[in-house]
Amino acid sequence: MIHTANDAIIQDYGTFVVGTRANLEHLDRSPFGLDLRWELDPTRQESATFLALLQRLDALTFGPEGMPMDLWVFYDCAELPGFIYGFAIEASRMTTHERVIFDLPVGYDGPVPLSMYIAIPMAEPGAWFGHNLASLNLTFPERRLQALGTMTKAMAIKAYRTERLFGATQWTSRALYIHTKFGVLDLHTTWTPAHSIPATLTYAFDVTEEKLRAAAGDPAVRLERPEPDFYLDAEDTDGMQALQAQIEGGAAFQLVGPPSVQRGRTVHPLRRSG
Ligand SMILES: CC(C)(COP(=O)(O)OP(=O)(O)OC[C@H]1O[C@@H](n2cnc3c(N)ncnc32)[C@H](O)[C@@H]1OP(=O)(O)O)[C@@H](O)C(=O)NCCC(=O)NCCS
Repeated sequence: MIHTANDAIIQDYGTFVVGTRANLEHLDRSPFGLDLRWELDPTRQESATFLALLQRLDALTFGPEGMPMDLWVFYDCAELPGFIYGFAIEASRMTTHERVIFDLPVGYDGPVPLSMYIAIPMAEPGAWFGHNLASLNLTFPERRLQALGTMTKAMAIKAYRTERLFGATQWTSRALYIHTKFGVLDLHTTWTPAHSIPATLTYAFDVTEEKLRAAAGDPAVRLERPEPDFYLDAEDTDGMQALQAQIEGGAAFQLVGPPSVQRGRTVHPLRRSG
C-alpha cells in the first residue's frame, strides 16, 4: 500500500471510477493496492444520479472560477473516451449540511464524490490529457481532507496506466502547487490562444512510480529538482508570449517547481532545457 500525505483519506473513504465496460478492461482496478469500491458505467441509467453529483462537485469547486461543465461535456469528453476517478463517501455518512450543499435527492443512499480526476486518452500511445481535477478539501474543512487533490491525481494516473501525462492550466491557478509535485514539467505552450484563456500553459511529463509516490506524499521518496534559470511572473503576458515564440522557434523550457511569492508577486521557476 502507498504511504501518502494523508493516509486517513485512504482509511476513511472509498474510491470510484466512471468508465464503460470496454474501457474498464484497460484500467488498473487496484492502483497502489487500493481496490475500487464503486464502478459506474455511464451507459446505464442507474449511474445517472452519481454522474449528476459529479457535475455538482464540479460546480462546487470550479464554479466560482467560471468554467463549470455541462453534462454533455462529461459524457462526450470524459465518460465515453476515458475515465473519471476519485474518492467518495456513502450518502448516509454525510451531515445534513453536506447533504444540503450537494442538494442530494431524498432517499439517495449511494456514493457521493469528494474528489475527481478526469483524463482522456490521446492518439499517442500511453499519453493521456488530464482535463479536470476537483477536491472538496476547502469546502469541507472539518473533514480534514488535506492533500486530497494531489492524492486523487496520483492514484488516477496510476489507475489509467498513463505513461505520459499532459495538462493545461492557467498561470494564476493554485492547481500549479499540485501539478509541480509530480516533478519537472516540460512546457509545450506558455501562451495558448487556442484556449478560452490564452494565459494558459500546456505541460507534460513522463510518468514514473517514483513521481506518483512523491506527489502523493510518500516520505520515502524525494525527487531531484534542477535550479531555475529564471522566473516568470504569473501575470506577465508579454513574457508568456515571448517564451511561446521561442518554443515555436525550437527552444524548450521546463517548469521546475511550485509558484512562489517574490516582492508581493507570484512567480514560476523555469529553466531552458533545449
Ligand atoms: C485546486 C484543488 C484541486 C486543490 O485541492 P486540495 O485537495 O485542496 O489540494 P491539496 O491539498 O492536494 O494540495 C494543495 C497544495 O497546494 C498548496 N497551495 C494551495 N494554494 C496555495 C497558496 N496560495 N500558497 C501556497 N500553497 C498553496 C497547498 O499548501 C498544498 O500544498 P502542500 O501539500 O505542499 O501544503 C481544489 O481547490 C479545487 O477543486 N479547486 C477548483 C478546481 C480547480 O482549480 N482545479 C484545477 C484545474 S487544473
